Amino acid sequence: MSESTDRSGFNSYFGFLMAAVGSAVGFGNIWGFPYKMGTHGGFAFLICYLILAVLVGFAIMFGELFIGRREMLGPMGSYINIGKRNGKNLKFMGWLAMLSALFLMGFYCTLGGYVLKYTIANIGTLVNAGWGMSGEAGAYFTAFTTDQTQAVAWAVIFVVLTAFICIGGVSGGIEKFCKIGMPLLFVILIVIIIKSVTLPGSSAGLAFIFKPQWDMLMGKEFVNTLGSAGGQMFFSLSLGMGAMITYGSYLTKKENLESSAWIIVICDTIVALMAALAVFPAVFAFGMEPAGGPGLLFVTMQSVFDSMGAIGPVMGTLFYFLVTIAGISSSISLLEVVTVSLQEMTGKGDPNKGWSRKKAVLTGAVVVGIMNIIVALDGLGATGLPQPLGKCWLDFFDLLAEGIMMPFGALVMSIIVGWVIGKDAVVKEATLEGNKFHEVGMFMACTKVIAPIGMAFILLGQIDSFFGLGLFSL
Ligand code: TRP
Repeated sequence: MSESTDRSGFNSYFGFLMAAVGSAVGFGNIWGFPYKMGTHGGFAFLICYLILAVLVGFAIMFGELFIGRREMLGPMGSYINIGKRNGKNLKFMGWLAMLSALFLMGFYCTLGGYVLKYTIANIGTLVNAGWGMSGEAGAYFTAFTTDQTQAVAWAVIFVVLTAFICIGGVSGGIEKFCKIGMPLLFVILIVIIIKSVTLPGSSAGLAFIFKPQWDMLMGKEFVNTLGSAGGQMFFSLSLGMGAMITYGSYLTKKENLESSAWIIVICDTIVALMAALAVFPAVFAFGMEPAGGPGLLFVTMQSVFDSMGAIGPVMGTLFYFLVTIAGISSSISLLEVVTVSLQEMTGKGDPNKGWSRKKAVLTGAVVVGIMNIIVALDGLGATGLPQPLGKCWLDFFDLLAEGIMMPFGALVMSIIVGWVIGKDAVVKEATLEGNKFHEVGMFMACTKVIAPIGMAFILLGQIDSFFGLGLFSL
């Protein structure tokens, strides 16, 4: 059998879409987007976000799906082959993809563990068990995250769940999970939105997210807003580390690359907006301060559920369960990148000659498990573990992945598609089996010029925000 025919992929196009949207929809949609939108200009932020998603996000999404489907390999094998054909050594891009997936997963699963714990604890409250939520939400969170045994245990459970699904294979594990999980997530989100926007006083939350603050688009604020929208956009779309290359490699030739890329971008944005509607109306209805990051997810939201009365534990269980699904569907796509990269590395470019899927998944899971044990032990920097660069371990891994490697990877990827691979090959792949490619001109302009400039700017913005250099807020 040839390399391409024995690559068993998704059973259905719907399965592929759910897996790709599942990869994109993650913690970033829930705790990143709504807060950034609220604090960086409301509707004005949304406009920046959408423009960047269309001009930069779409091009990189398309580029990654294109590379994967054309080469029918993950990032490691794809870049090795593209390099060989063009007299370049592009293996470093494969390494970059695998390492960013590892570093991102290195803390993502710890957060996943927190979310799992909160799901179970809310169920505990619901059934009035001793293991339910107790006390004030802030104190509970600190007590839990600094309880190293618990934090490590939940992180490890999350890694094991991820590995279990990945060992099941692309159609038998990943597709199965996402085909049920993503529609379920959508339905739960609607239930929570209905509850949230019908609470008395929720309109202040709607004003917080949507009210346009046009001054955020003026002068130096504009650079700031653009940087924040750009950083959020590329992270939320899972770009720049080969996740979409990997999923694209399982796509059959009859599917339309252009519309697939649009669907993923649009669905991810819709879920981010829905998350904003689910979260902030409720936060404001109970008179709480808006927040972002773990504070929003675990302290503010839990206080919201604590204040809701009898329905609180039901909503809490649904909410954290939804976030668990979002987390797992992202983390399986990360482990898939690591798995396929390991197989391709050990097979010198041909995954069929490398490690078995099981061996690769387990090896990846052990490495990721160790990283997460460190992050969980560190308890967001509150347990006195020695720390790199004066940052807590979570921020350190996040800096390496989200701050540097991923935006850099996305930048180089768009240059490779635009300048090394070129238009003819792109059009050929996108129009296989009678498919239409509508926006060729726009796509080429984006991938050659606009996306690289946009990503260079975003890379600077990420480094700036991680190190607090103040370049963007002069
Ligand atoms: N998009 C994910 C989120 O919003 C995070 C993420 C970035 C990711 N790159 C990824 C997830 C690659 C899976 C694969 O949380």
